[in-house]
Amino acid sequence: MARILITSAIPYINGIKHLGNLVGSQLPADLFARFHRARGNEVMFLCATDEHGTPAELAAAKAGKPVNEYCAEMHAIQADIANRFGLSFDHFGRSSSPENHKLTQHFAGVLADQGLIAEVEEEQVYSNADGRYLPDRYIEGTCPNCGYDKARGDQCENCTKQLDPTDLIEPRSAISGSTDLEVRKTKHLYLRQSNMRGQLSEWIESKGDWPVLTTSIAKKWLNDGDGLQDRGITRDLDWGVPVKRGAEEWPGMEGKVFYVWFDAPIEYIACAQERDPNDWERWWRTDKGADDVTYFQFMGKDNVPFHTLSFPATILGSGEPWKLVDYIKSFNYLNYDGGQFSTSQGRGVFMDQALEILPADYWRWWLLSNAPETSDSEFTWPRFQEGVNKDLADVLGNFVSRVTKFCRSKFSEAVPAGGSYGAREEQLITDLTARVRAYETAQEKMEVRRAAAELRACWVLGNEYLQEVAPWSTFKEDPDQAAAQIRLALNLIRVYAVLSAPFIPTAAGHMLSGMNTLDMSWPDDVAQALNALPAGHEFTVPEVLFAKITDDQREEWAARFSGTRD
Ligand code: MF3
Ligand code: ZN
Repeated sequence: MARILITSAIPYINGIKHLGNLVGSQLPADLFARFHRARGNEVMFLCATDEHGTPAELAAAKAGKPVNEYCAEMHAIQADIANRFGLSFDHFGRSSSPENHKLTQHFAGVLADQGLIAEVEEEQVYSNADGRYLPDRYIEGTCPNCGYDKARGDQCENCTKQLDPTDLIEPRSAISGSTDLEVRKTKHLYLRQSNMRGQLSEWIESKGDWPVLTTSIAKKWLNDGDGLQDRGITRDLDWGVPVKRGAEEWPGMEGKVFYVWFDAPIEYIACAQERDPNDWERWWRTDKGADDVTYFQFMGKDNVPFHTLSFPATILGSGEPWKLVDYIKSFNYLNYDGGQFSTSQGRGVFMDQALEILPADYWRWWLLSNAPETSDSEFTWPRFQEGVNKDLADVLGNFVSRVTKFCRSKFSEAVPAGGSYGAREEQLITDLTARVRAYETAQEKMEVRRAAAELRACWVLGNEYLQEVAPWSTFKEDPDQAAAQIRLALNLIRVYAVLSAPFIPTAAGHMLSGMNTLDMSWPDDVAQALNALPAGHEFTVPEVLFAKITDDQREEWAARFSGTRD
């Protein structure tokens, strides 16, 4: 039995996630977790909300709530939606937890002890009207390069030029619009990750089996002159983890907090502590049993630099025996109907809305079978309708309903006795064995689309078999032979439920309860698996597993989601 640690990038607290976010981290991570549990491995699947930083403060202000209250409410909302999507986290934590405060301060302390923290005096824009320092991207003004009047302090969106806030002409606060700004001196901590270039690059080079998407981004940042610059890890904000050196005050850093990107990945570890203070070390400390854990991270491509460089710098720099990631699975973007999904613009379909119109399995199947792995992919309503109707309704759902209904009408609601498996059944067993092995390989390698394709191919084999042997015809001349064919087909339903559960857990549950079995054993031996439900075993015809999406529905939804949310 292997021990598998899985984390998916922790979603920001400031709003409900869209389907593009979902398919880039949490959903494929869930697929992988469910697959490994089904294989009998011990899995720890962790996720949390990422609660600090200016966006959280501003979202709370907009909602008219104290930030801690806002975060608590949004955490509960995100946890509920995740649950309804079937995301099977072993714990869904919060980066604002006391555990993460303590662990973040601990890491800062040991990094300082290792000589990896520098104190730097710098200049930052302070807004008198807002009573706060403004992060670069919350300062707006006219671009000195192209004259665009909504350029941000970090970059001009119009001409893409990288800017410093002081470059802007007539700068103003993006929060209040106030121009009453001044430049103040303030002290911050920097993580000297440039000192670790050698160590990090050696580590990345050793990962020959990582997806190209992951390593190419990491190498670009490593080798790009300023990719691995020392990084400010503190901010002048109220909401966050107070800067401390372990348990000690940090002179000169009073009133400051750690930067959200410093504390967020540390939450992966703190999350396990939140789950069980007595059962986390064997997942995270290589001196306490985690040396036989294999650790997988799932994320969108924009998160890769933080997971290949910044977080490993924290872990390696500490000099302590923390578990480092073994494999980083990253994703491109899913687009929405000719453009991008956008949280800020409310464009696309959001997780709560998706569940208002269809059960989770429809979305899970389509999103995973179209995951943006090797390139960006696109959600359109016609493609969604076609994928769901073909794969789920015509292939899988139809198989289950035909087989069970035929058995009920010609035999009974029990696996029929009589006849035996012959050459055609042997052929099916051979073909299915090959497909199941290919499916396992794809799942193990986190090749999500490939896994979906192999699973679909398993379903298709059953349909082809049924079509060919045509038990409804056989029945007329040789009812015994028809009984054997249906016995095999009923057993296939159980096998399909087990294989499909990582993708479509709810439907798989209905298939198993229809087959009246708790036997979720994996078809290691397909021939044996096709005898698991013996003659006489009772079942019930399940309700329709998947209703087809009609053209009317498709049009209605396309119209409903063509604009922006709110
Ligand atoms: N909140 C970030 C995002 O949604 C992801 C944080 S991942 C972590 O892009 F590693 F920092 F936790
Ligand atoms: Zn410009």
